[in-house]
Amino acid sequence: MSVDLTDLDAAGLDLAISDGVATVTLSRPQRRNAMTPAMWQGLARIPGKLSADVRVVVVTGQGPSFCAGIDLRMFTAEGVPGEGRALSPADPGFDDEVAGYQAGFRWLRDPSFVSIAAVRGHAIGAGFQLALACDLRVLADDAQLCMKEPALGLVPDLTGTKPLVDIVGLPRAIELCLTARTIDATEAERLRLAERVVPAADLDRAVAELATALMTTDAAAARATKALLGNAPRRSLAEQAAAERAAQAKLLQARSPDRQVPST
Ligand code: ACO
Repeated sequence: MSVDLTDLDAAGLDLAISDGVATVTLSRPQRRNAMTPAMWQGLARIPGKLSADVRVVVVTGQGPSFCAGIDLRMFTAEGVPGEGRALSPADPGFDDEVAGYQAGFRWLRDPSFVSIAAVRGHAIGAGFQLALACDLRVLADDAQLCMKEPALGLVPDLTGTKPLVDIVGLPRAIELCLTARTIDATEAERLRLAERVVPAADLDRAVAELATALMTTDAAAARATKALLGNAPRRSLAEQAAAERAAQAKLLQARSPDRQVPST
């Protein structure tokens, strides 16, 4: 099946799908992959272009930076050519518009696949939030993460606050956001913001190895397990135990009778 990618190209995005791995690349390296609303809307269209056999989605950036956050020209009088200025709450449909931007980040939690942010260089503001929107993060040792929004008089509103709190805890999330300080890869790993840190030259290989390892497990079991794990934090133990039973029954019922569970 051929997929029309011309709309993504116009949004500064590239999508490549091979052997069950979809790679989404922010492709505006001359601006350090700075993001615009068109890019967020383009990201939101990607799940509609993925085939059912995709099990891993890698999000990465072209050039030396993962992403330098929102295109700061959005805040100038001239705006970004072809896109204009940042929306104002006075504009009609402000809430719906921002929800549409957030959709570009939220799909990365879909249980159909595991999403991995491959981060080299800067991940600032919206770029840090994009890395947080992924299930896993592999960082090059030159990675630098910063939640810059409060320093610019903004809140982080591209879905980053919840995963940040979930990962680092509330006190550290407050400290990171309200100082807007930059953390390096070593500290990011210590704060559990990176599953792995590797030399920059090894980033692509490390991500490919992780993708391969993630695809060694049974596809249906992997999808059901990710859904189970994703819902665990908001359930009681009893609720989660019931959910495990239900998921197991559904998984086994869907399996053809001649497909045996491997013995250990
Ligand atoms: N918006 C628009 N253009 C950008 C952005 C951005 N966010 N970031 C970088 N660029 C452009 C620069 O203007 C420069 O353009 P030019 O070559 O025409 O002068 C080019 O990208 C390269 O940037 P440099 O600053 O020269 O690259 P350097 O490697 O020295 O620094 C860094 C990279 C640290 C990312 C720096 O560019 C930077 O601080 N950018 C702004 C980061 C920021 O504050 N983002 C907003 C966060 S808040 C949010 O996302 C809601």
